[in-house]
Amino acid sequence: MEYAPEDLSQRERYKVLTSFVLPRPIAWVTTVGPTGVVNAAPFSFFNAFCESPPLCMFAANNRPDGRAKDTLVNIRRSGEFVVNIADEPLARAMHESSGDFPPEIGEPSYLGLKLAPSSKVSVPRLADTPWAMECKTWKIIDVNGDRILVMGEGINFYIRDELWDREAMRVHMDRYHPIGRMFADRYCRTDDRVVFPAAQGPK
Ligand SMILES: Cc1cc2nc3c(=O)[nH]c(=O)nc-3n(C[C@H](O)[C@H](O)[C@H](O)COP(=O)(O)O)c2cc1C
Repeated sequence: MEYAPEDLSQRERYKVLTSFVLPRPIAWVTTVGPTGVVNAAPFSFFNAFCESPPLCMFAANNRPDGRAKDTLVNIRRSGEFVVNIADEPLARAMHESSGDFPPEIGEPSYLGLKLAPSSKVSVPRLADTPWAMECKTWKIIDVNGDRILVMGEGINFYIRDELWDREAMRVHMDRYHPIGRMFADRYCRTDDRVVFPAAQGPK
C-alpha cells in the first residue's frame, strides 16, 4: 500500500501518520489565561529535539469551528508554558483534560488536580507530575493556518525526587511509568521494557 499525500484528505493523512508513528509521548501543557485561569491540555504531536538550548515542540490544530485552542491563545499572549508528563496515576485525568472546556473553566481546578508554583515562569506545573519543563516560547510556526508548531525553550526542569538518581544522573526506571499515546483514545503503558547490549558496529 502506498499513498501520495495529495491523494488523501487532511483527516486521512492524519490517520496514516498517527496510526504508525506511535507510541507518542504526551506533553500535558499548562498555561495561564488572561484572568488567571490555569489551563491544562494534552498534546501528542510532541517531542524534545535539542539540549542546548533545551527545545521541545508540540503541534496544535484549531478547533473544528476554526477557533484557536486555549493553550495556543495563552502561549501567544504570555510566551510561557509548562510541559508536564503524565504517568499512570495521572493518565485518566490527562485524558479527561482534553474535553471541551471553555476558557473560563480551568481543567486542573475542574478535575481536582493540584498545582505547584514554577520557579522561572508564572505558569504553575501540575503538582503530581513526575517531570516538568518550564518553557518560554522559542518560536511559533503557523504551518497552514490550521496546524501551528509551538517550540519552547526549557528554562527549568522539575523532577520528582524519588525518580532521580543524582549520582548517576539517571532516572529510576522501575519507578517511572509514563503513558504513551497510541491513537484516538488508546494509550500504552511503558513497563514492558527490553534491553540490548551496546551496539558494536563492524570491527
Ligand atoms: C492524548 C491526547 C493527545 C492530543 N494531542 C493533540 C495534539 O497533538 N494537538 C492538538 O491540537 N490536540 C491534541 N489533542 C486534543 C487537545 O488536547 C484538545 O483539543 C484540548 O481540548 C485542547 O485544550 P485547550 O483548548 O485547553 O488548549 C490531544 C488529546 C489527547 C487526549
